[in-house]
Amino acid sequence: MLFDTHAHYYDGRFDPDREELLASLPGRGVELALCPGCDLSSSRACIALSERFPHIYAAVGVHPEDCGDWEDGFLWELRSLASHAKVRAIGEIGLDYYWKENPPKALQQNVFRRQLELAQSLSLPAIVHDREAHGDCLALVKEFPQVTGVFHCYSGSVDMALELVELGWYLGFDGPITYKNAKKAPEVISAVPLERILVETDAPYMAPEPFRGRRNDSTYVYRMAETIAQIKGLPVETVAAQTTANGRRLFRIPEPAKKE
Ligand code: NI
Repeated sequence: MLFDTHAHYYDGRFDPDREELLASLPGRGVELALCPGCDLSSSRACIALSERFPHIYAAVGVHPEDCGDWEDGFLWELRSLASHAKVRAIGEIGLDYYWKENPPKALQQNVFRRQLELAQSLSLPAIVHDREAHGDCLALVKEFPQVTGVFHCYSGSVDMALELVELGWYLGFDGPITYKNAKKAPEVISAVPLERILVETDAPYMAPEPFRGRRNDSTYVYRMAETIAQIKGLPVETVAAQTTANGRRLFRIPEPAKKE
């Protein structure tokens, strides 16, 4: 059974079938999914979904692409949302230098830093979005040695991956590792211990091969487990069990009670 640690189920593309899809996951090999917010309203929507489905958990945060209207008062709202029993992380937060039209770097860095402070004060892990901002993301998380979490859709170097692992962080891998032109990710996956790897979809975006171009959902997360198994030369069952255990450990979701 798999744990999709990153799926945006509040997205409008799930409006036609969200209920059926989420209800069907445990019967289709996905025992858990974590839904991270990108702003206050999507964070609230993640919590609402987590209340409806026992296998859905939530994270709350403001994404770097959505931080243009940031006010420090948002921290109080995030702090109050984070007290919900199904909220297991602050995310997704981070830096995105890819799009020219994104909020200014200084604002992104301030918003990221404030939310890492929040994660630290609440003893919650962080879900980090790092796009074309590897050096600054690493420097910022190193300001908060008590905070760990996951670098979602990891796209940095092998050296940075090993440094993050050393600091206690996990790395999340998504659809791009299944693409034919994937080069860096297989090297990173080979180099880091399986005990620090998470599988994610980032649904509805970035569907893995052979579903590329379609709407992504957690039922495709097995493709990430298969690809990691292939790269590491391990049975896919081992990768599925270990990545699920990793996600439960990081997000403090206890193993289900064993049936007698
Ligand atoms: Ni995401």
